[in-house]
Amino acid sequence: MRIDVVSIFPEYLAPLDLSLVGKARRAGLLDVRVHDLRDWTTDRHRTVDDAPLGGGAGMVMRPDVWGEALDGLVEQGTELVLPTPSGERFTQRTAERMAATGHVVVACGRYEGIDARVADHYRERGVRVTEVSLGDYVLNGGEVAALVLVEAVARLLPGVVGNPQSLVEESHGAAGLLEYPVFTRPPVWRDLPAPPVLLSGHHAKVERWRRDQSLRRTALRRPDLLQQVPLHELDRDDRHVLEDLGWTFDERDGAVPPG
Ligand SMILES: C[S@@+](CC[C@H](N)C(=O)[O-])C[C@H]1O[C@@H](n2cnc3c(N)ncnc32)[C@H](O)[C@@H]1O
Repeated sequence: MRIDVVSIFPEYLAPLDLSLVGKARRAGLLDVRVHDLRDWTTDRHRTVDDAPLGGGAGMVMRPDVWGEALDGLVEQGTELVLPTPSGERFTQRTAERMAATGHVVVACGRYEGIDARVADHYRERGVRVTEVSLGDYVLNGGEVAALVLVEAVARLLPGVVGNPQSLVEESHGAAGLLEYPVFTRPPVWRDLPAPPVLLSGHHAKVERWRRDQSLRRTALRRPDLLQQVPLHELDRDDRHVLEDLGWTFDERDGAVPPG
């Protein structure tokens, strides 16, 4: 898979040389190319921004410079990603979809953002354009979003994470639940014992305990996620766990939180 990131601060993307992503790049599993937007400017000052039409605070990134940059990078089948706080939420599903895409180009905005005609223009040309938000807050630029995207997508590519089973059990995975709490040695730390079942060697009991913990944690922390789990995926034991927490089940509404 190839990911191009265009930014006026290419140095910001240096962490992409580290850890699993760096290793994946060196192993040829992922081709990440970072570009300096200013390389596509034509004036002496390498200008990428101008005052907002209609007036107001801040500066807006110019469509002509972005157009030159993106024309050279966007090909047939490319997904163009524009990070913006007004985009759709970037989730594990978004990462999964992008991991199945051969080529993603991330255009990192700065200032008040990129002239809106850039997204419109590439959509009109038939390019898949996705405006994504990391969350309901405002960052200074899209580089952090690009780092998040590359890391979330890269770990889904075959061969990047050592044990693919760890991807299945994780939070926001296929089960739609948060992951159970995890423990390691020593079995007692500062008078806090790890749950004895994890030391029992009883595989089925460990599995059941983990499932219960996942359900409890999701019910308490992210009831919105649990409400999206289809009822047929919740067996009798699952329902008992949730009933203890005041949840009910309705064929039409699915799992319903207390209150
Ligand atoms: C200061 S922000 C612009 C905010 C914009 N004026 C608004 O209110 O929607 C500059 C750039 O940071 C990035 N950015 C800021 N917050 C973000 C978020 N929550 N998710 C993704 N990208 C974000 C985008 O690339 C954006 O173009």
